[in-house]
Amino acid sequence: MMRFSTLSSKNILLGVTGSIAAYKAAELVRELSRQGAAVTVVMTESAGKFVGLTTFNALSGRTVYTNLFNNPAEPAPHINLPRQADAVVIAPATANFIGKMAHGIADDLLSTIVLAAQKPILVCPAMNSAMYEHPAMKGNLEQLRKYGYQVVEPETGPLACGDEGPGRLAEPSTICEAVKTVLEKKDLQGRKILVTAGPTEEPIDPVRFISNRSSGKMGYSLARVARRRGAEVVLISGPTCLSKPWGIEFVPVRTAAEMHKAVMSYFDWATIVIKAAAVADYGPSTVIPQKLKKGTPDLSLKLTRTPDILKELGKRKKRQILVGFAAESKNLAVEARRKLQEKNLDLIVANDITVPGAGFGFDTNQVKIITAAGGVIDSPLLDKEEIAYLILDKVLEVMQKRGGRS
Ligand code: CTP
Repeated sequence: MMRFSTLSSKNILLGVTGSIAAYKAAELVRELSRQGAAVTVVMTESAGKFVGLTTFNALSGRTVYTNLFNNPAEPAPHINLPRQADAVVIAPATANFIGKMAHGIADDLLSTIVLAAQKPILVCPAMNSAMYEHPAMKGNLEQLRKYGYQVVEPETGPLACGDEGPGRLAEPSTICEAVKTVLEKKDLQGRKILVTAGPTEEPIDPVRFISNRSSGKMGYSLARVARRRGAEVVLISGPTCLSKPWGIEFVPVRTAAEMHKAVMSYFDWATIVIKAAAVADYGPSTVIPQKLKKGTPDLSLKLTRTPDILKELGKRKKRQILVGFAAESKNLAVEARRKLQEKNLDLIVANDITVPGAGFGFDTNQVKIITAAGGVIDSPLLDKEEIAYLILDKVLEVMQKRGGRS
């Protein structure tokens, strides 16, 4: 578990309504709790037809509320529960419940809470795609957005009824991210951040390639945290096993040449560029069109340098803040300062790949953040998301020192 989380000591009121996706709400309670939140569940009567109260009680470790008159000692739960909450999340939200929310109907505990709540409200629809695409539903969701509620769009895919289309409840990890985004301070609002992540793959023949051990975790953490803090984010990613972060523009690429092209096309748009990708420095000089057959005992492969994307950005930059990465096995600070200068960066994040648990493939990292002005921060070994907070704090500081010119 991270030492720091946006959800630490936050109170989340989770409203569960009567959809087959109610079982996923159980997973959501676990995920929110795992990240440090205290979750109070309020179920509608029809939610109880899908999941038992005991499940939520056991997972949240708290009383589960089902109606306005549960407990005579607690006479006004519709006022007190939202008052104690930092955010109200309705997941899954049925078509009927969304209809009630849009029209101010308060005929049970949860709908009454929604009217009484003066806290951020997130609505996570789940229903059959025909229902979801009905004009009435579109109008209702539009109305909820006008009220200032955050709608966490459902996913498209196979539905419990056998149909296929939009209407699957968003994944618990997505809903969790949306909750964090609502609760996070928005100190990167208005910033346009381009992040690159992951390795690149340089093809040898149709089935083989040269690549490296980058998992993409550092870049994806940066993209998520930047979005959470209010930035508009474009993530250009080489091939990874990670799922696309919520709420950002995602540009998948494979080779260094493709990454180069994608980065250049977004460069003028960006105010901050963070190049966390481990771009292959060399690729096969020619790609063999047919699968290479074994033959001779030795085989040489001629390699050619790929474009140094960051160096080119350093030459082209006008107002952008440029952040580079350096993974080193010796002379960490010296090598990092050299790259900072040679590539005309504002900041470099260096890590010693010989430190156990740091860098490639791990969830954690330990870094040295060096600014062009000479400032140095040495982090302890932290979760990559915490490192992302540190890096973005430093980027903001550099921007503020520039007097907001960026
Ligand atoms: N980078 C890039 N394009 C490349 C290679 C690297 O944009 N073709 C970027 C990386 O995204 C990273 C930084 O440059 O931000 C890494 O610097 P680099 O000097 O390439 O480090 P190494 O690949 O480790 O190279 P060296 O062999 O010099 O240590």
